[in-house]
Amino acid sequence: MHLFDPLVLGGIRLKNRIFVSPVCQYSANEGHPTTWHLVHLGSRAVGGAALVLAEATAVEARGRISPADSGIWLDSQADAWAPIARFIAEQGAAAGMQLAHAGRKGSTAVPWRGGKELSAEHGGWPTVAPSAVAFASEYPTPAAMTAADIDTVVTAFADGARRAYAAGFRVLEIHAAHGYLIHEFLSALSNRRQDEYGGSFENRMRLVRRVVAAVRDAVPEGTALLLRISATDWTDGGWDLDQSCALVESLKNEGIHLVDVSSGGNVATATNPFGPGYQTSFAAAIRLRTGVPTGAVGMIVAPAQADHVVADRTGRRGAARTRAAARSVLAAAGGAGARCQSRVARAVCARMVARSRHGSRSHHATTRCGPRASA
Ligand SMILES: Cc1cc2nc3c(=O)[nH]c(=O)nc-3n(C[C@H](O)[C@H](O)[C@H](O)COP(=O)(O)O)c2cc1C
Repeated sequence: MHLFDPLVLGGIRLKNRIFVSPVCQYSANEGHPTTWHLVHLGSRAVGGAALVLAEATAVEARGRISPADSGIWLDSQADAWAPIARFIAEQGAAAGMQLAHAGRKGSTAVPWRGGKELSAEHGGWPTVAPSAVAFASEYPTPAAMTAADIDTVVTAFADGARRAYAAGFRVLEIHAAHGYLIHEFLSALSNRRQDEYGGSFENRMRLVRRVVAAVRDAVPEGTALLLRISATDWTDGGWDLDQSCALVESLKNEGIHLVDVSSGGNVATATNPFGPGYQTSFAAAIRLRTGVPTGAVGMIVAPAQADHVVADRTGRRGAARTRAAARSVLAAAGGAGARCQSRVARAVCARMVARSRHGSRSHHATTRCGPRASA
């Protein structure tokens, strides 16, 4: 099994195992994607990735991280996404959308304007979460969600999925990672509820299980369904690998085709051991323990390294079925990594520190969307 072998997820055949990881662009207009998104995502499809995942796309307006996030809560947003999905498909790639709700990490300024809590007069909005506990002092204090709020969010995920499918996205990823709403419910550190959505592991899983079922039922069979999780909170008493495996096991027969394994983002004081392939062991463990295909991500920057992640060299059939790249692929757009031969391999071989459109600082320094930056 190798990086350039095809992969079938649901009814979707992917031409290789390279995914472009979702990367917030903070460039939408009232939730509508713009030509920036067409060029950002379209150029990655031209580069040869099998799956191009659009950024965390909010299913409700209050589920945005910043006012410049993309959305899918309106039909007009789906209309704006349609030509982007079409262009990606025309390049032979699958178009994927990440369906998201920021929960208590919403209503903040875009990173290059400080990334802090936005007041109402500056365009902020009231946020919601499992419990009325702020992520950190510079974040808004959310309202604890009522049962009706939870029902509304589940319906919003289903409606978002329906719109995304209508716009041409054939791969949908549910964002349950990085300390956003679904992760906030999963982790006992952010979920202090005493009702059927809090306390026991079963209760904390209830929201994600409802969202998965609602999204699956909203789209035609064959649509590939991915779940992105943070395998650990990197904090004692928080979400961890054992709970991740139990969650994936419980969703095994519920329509999820692949688990996209990231980590962190839910605890502001947590520190990740950051380095090449620092999360791939989680993807390996989840796949080996549950038998569910996984995707690996996180500082996978060289083609040989990426191939090793998916290859069958150890008898364990590799750490993951797929691997995704975020910063290295963005950096490659600037022309780095010329040692590699294929266009995609060039993308994977690029610098680790991306040159964003807003300067040359690392993306972790310029966004809160990635797991480490959220900490
Ligand atoms: C600028 C930026 C924006 C990101 N936006 C998202 C996002 O929208 N959804 C998500 O799940 N992860 C997001 N991430 C995390 C990436 O998808 C990826 O998991 C992370 O950057 C690690 O991969 P890398 O080392 O190849 O960059 C973002 C990361 C960066 C740097």
